[in-house]
Amino acid sequence: MNVATLKPQPIYELHGISKTYDQGANEIHAVRDVDLTIDEGEFLVVVGPSGSGKTTLLQLLGGLDRPTAGEIRFEGRDMARLKDGELSDLRLRTLGFIFQQFNLIPTLTAAQNVEVALAPRKLSAHARHERARWLLESVGLATRAHHVPSKLSGGEQQRVAIARALANEPRVLLADEPNGNLDSTTGEEIIQLLMSLSAERRQTIVVITHDTAIAARAQRQLRMRDGELLPADHEAVAFLGTS
Ligand SMILES: Nc1ncnc2c1ncn2[C@@H]1O[C@H](COP(=O)(O)OP(=O)(O)OP(=O)(O)O)[C@@H](O)[C@H]1O
Ligand SMILES: [Mg+2]
Repeated sequence: MNVATLKPQPIYELHGISKTYDQGANEIHAVRDVDLTIDEGEFLVVVGPSGSGKTTLLQLLGGLDRPTAGEIRFEGRDMARLKDGELSDLRLRTLGFIFQQFNLIPTLTAAQNVEVALAPRKLSAHARHERARWLLESVGLATRAHHVPSKLSGGEQQRVAIARALANEPRVLLADEPNGNLDSTTGEEIIQLLMSLSAERRQTIVVITHDTAIAARAQRQLRMRDGELLPADHEAVAFLGTS
């Protein structure tokens, strides 16, 4: 067996990543000169004050936006060299997104919301139903599959959104304040669910949160301030402080 395959491999490598918004007279440096390596299977939490560039960084990781400077390598490939079609294919098949607002389709049931995400797979109707049912079961929602979002609690809606994000077995899950609209107990359960997905499936997960208690329990914490990633010794101190 190749021993190298047992070692975590970097899934993302960021070199000198910046994102600047041009606002006429002044420029906004949302992300400044970020260097970062994320290994396969890592569970990473991003924290920092409002406006520090967390969402911008996540959008760059997700190929929802392109950096103004620097290079993002995903599984060794330079994302800047991907054509728009290749990038949207990557987003659809390889990355899963979870948002604060859940973003479910209100007229569809939980199962149908998950099935929509399965559409690109061209499964038979039966296989699609079965897979949606299995995905909902894996987030603890088997009994709520036929409810529309308005009949579900916030935590349940976020579980549907997670099942949807997992539909195409993405190699990375990117979550922007997934607990931001939930009370602290429910928010904690959602983060716990994401942590267990990461542990059980070796799923790479990047989560933004404002909840410092949750962040403190993460395997690795990235701190942002004014668009910059605070140096790794800050990470190390934060990590030691929680062990
Ligand atoms: N499309 C845009 N055009 C111009 N400026 C933007 C745009 N998107 C973000 N910004 C600015 O970039 C900076 C970083 O924003 P970002 O949304 O990444 O912060 P954040 O850390 O996610 O904040 P929050 O915790 O409030 O969500 C902010 O100053 C914001 O106003
Ligand atoms: Mg944000």
